[in-house]
Amino acid sequence: MLITAPKVGHLPITGKTKVLGIIGDPVDHSVSPAMYNAVFRKLKMDAVYVAFRVPKDEVAAAIRGVRAFNIQGLNVTIPDKTEVIKYLDEVEPIAKEIDAVNVISNKNFKLKGYNTDGPGAMKALRQKNVVLRGKRVLLLGAGGAAKALSYYVLKEADQLEIMNRTLKNAEALAETLRNRFAKKIIVSKLTSQSLKKSLRKCSVLINSTSVGLHNGLNESLVNPHDLRQDMVVFDIVPRITKLIKDGENAGAKVINGFDMLLHQGVLGFKVWMNTEPPFDVMRNAIRTASST
Ligand code: ATR
Repeated sequence: MLITAPKVGHLPITGKTKVLGIIGDPVDHSVSPAMYNAVFRKLKMDAVYVAFRVPKDEVAAAIRGVRAFNIQGLNVTIPDKTEVIKYLDEVEPIAKEIDAVNVISNKNFKLKGYNTDGPGAMKALRQKNVVLRGKRVLLLGAGGAAKALSYYVLKEADQLEIMNRTLKNAEALAETLRNRFAKKIIVSKLTSQSLKKSLRKCSVLINSTSVGLHNGLNESLVNPHDLRQDMVVFDIVPRITKLIKDGENAGAKVINGFDMLLHQGVLGFKVWMNTEPPFDVMRNAIRTASST
């Protein structure tokens, strides 16, 4: 009897196939498998990328698994980005400072952590011709993604307001940032009133909370009436969210989480494979996966 190997696209999975993947919770909506597997197919690489649902309390076991199975590379997403750090052999300085890792490489069983959230976000902004210099940016959230983004935003923007549901998390982030940047950093508690007031003063809004991740089109922190045509609305959640739809309806310039994911994806691929991936293949794969 002839047994044919299972296929991912046209590539057979063999005993030599390299395994990469994403850990986080939830991951079932992730378009990363589609994005990376499209590149592997295009470049005829003997590799496959899969999603592993790993809640925070299973991160230690998952990283032991990465070593045991010799998984070649990982992305890390909510809620594991900070937790994962203590199980790695090495972490690049900026990721250590940000206290969040979203890419892990495995070179001869030595696991190294990186953070491509900030650079990915800045590339997504630049691609849509958004200039932060001279601007006041309102950042919603103070978690791992907010930490990563705020560092890069402050390199360019004039003022940053960090607004968060839990004020003390925003204060802690601002404290770290003030040690590094001599710029105006404002902290406030996220309420519908404070948000309304702050939106009047800012021209760039970035949502780095997880609101929209679970229930994309039905939840948003922002009242659509507070969005304006002269604003940039950037939602890092990799879904088409209510905030993105509301931003489009208001005539604002919108940048969605897929734009950021694409640029992060390029950076992650370079870390693992030491080569530039085909950008258009990744973009098309994201488009197709996100519309199904
Ligand atoms: P990530 O690593 O992606 O940033 P995280 O570290 O878990 O994920 O951070 C999630 C962010 O979303 C936090 O700023 C969180 O606010 P708290 O600091 O108050 O927890 C924010 N967040 C999550 N759910 C939210 C909600 N329903 N309303 C407002 N903010 C929310």
